[in-house]
Amino acid sequence: MLVLLLLLAAAVSSPAPAAGDGGGALPVLNPISSFCNTTAARRTYLPNSTFEANLNGLFAVLSRNASASGYAAGAFGAAPDTAYGLLLCRGDFTGNDCSAARLASSFQQAASSCLYSKDVAVYYDQYQLRYSDQDFLAGAANEPETAAFNMNNVSDAGDVAAFDALVAELVNAVADRASNATRRYAAGKAGFAPEAMTVYAIAQCTPDLSPPQCRGCLAGIIDQMPKWFSARVGGRILGVRCDFRYEKDPFFKIPNDMVVLSPLPDPSSQG
Ligand SMILES: *[C@@H]1O[C@H](CO)[C@@H](O)[C@H](O)[C@H]1NC(C)=O
Ligand SMILES: *[C@@H]1O[C@H](CO)[C@@H](O)[C@H](O)[C@H]1NC(C)=O
Ligand SMILES: *[C@@H]1O[C@H](CO)[C@@H](O)[C@H](O)[C@H]1NC(C)=O
Ligand SMILES: *[C@@H]1O[C@H](CO)[C@@H](O)[C@H](O)[C@H]1NC(C)=O
Ligand SMILES: *[C@@H]1O[C@H](CO)[C@@H](O)[C@H](O)[C@H]1NC(C)=O
Repeated sequence: MLVLLLLLAAAVSSPAPAAGDGGGALPVLNPISSFCNTTAARRTYLPNSTFEANLNGLFAVLSRNASASGYAAGAFGAAPDTAYGLLLCRGDFTGNDCSAARLASSFQQAASSCLYSKDVAVYYDQYQLRYSDQDFLAGAANEPETAAFNMNNVSDAGDVAAFDALVAELVNAVADRASNATRRYAAGKAGFAPEAMTVYAIAQCTPDLSPPQCRGCLAGIIDQMPKWFSARVGGRILGVRCDFRYEKDPFFKIPNDMVVLSPLPDPSSQG
């Protein structure tokens, strides 16, 4: 079942933190979106239960491993109390920006705000986590997904169709690059001449997905763009296995190997 929650994003995301502001410090980050399964059939664990101990043990390992490689997933403990979990750092947040201490504190925050739920997904700007008592790692399911968009639109209504087409072309090109990249992450930019604008985009999958699985996952969320983002100068859809985001301002650390769709606007005409 597809669960899509709509949020209103801040007009422009805050830029990546400067190198060095990570360290051992533990700034409390606000999640973009949290899913704590609270259906009538909500699965919960008890304080001090074996499941809780397994979950804590799992995230101690995952936080360490994901801080080293940007991604970790696995299971901890014997049935019926096995905990399954996944941690993914955004592709441009490496090193101290995705430190084990930050990841561990975000897990603690998620666990305490999702009181004893066994079925949790939390999306932050810089990383995301999911855990469950069920083996969601066996497949490549992307749910729960969440969408958010920039409140601003292209300024001229006559530009909407061309703008939407350019954004779709850019996001697809970045998705192509990401699905073939070892880390399953790529970034790109494209010029939109009618409004002298440059659009920036990233796409990412968990690196355990094969290139076709990754591209298929991204296609599934890219297909939803017209529903949420027409005319919007920024938007993102986040899921457990893949995500993309675009904005009219740079919001990620600019890599050397960007996808660049021409023509970019004249730099002197940009604010
Ligand atoms: C919540 O848990 C129930 C029972 O396990 C499950 O059927 C349902 O799909 C879950 N809801 C979401 C939003 O994941
Ligand atoms: C859980 O264990 C801690 C530490 O042993 C104890 O202080 C706390 O009262 C226990 N909580 C419950 C609900 O049993
Ligand atoms: C964590 O990393 C260690 C060392 O690389 C590895 O042996 C282990 O399988 C990893 N576990 C998980 C759950 O990622
Ligand atoms: C953008 O367009 C939407 C849909 O037409 C509209 O509801 C919204 O108010 C617009 N945003 C701004 C900042 O004008
Ligand atoms: C991925 O790389 C292979 C081999 O270089 C190429 O044939 C394929 O078209 C690429 N796929 C995408 C989606 O770019």
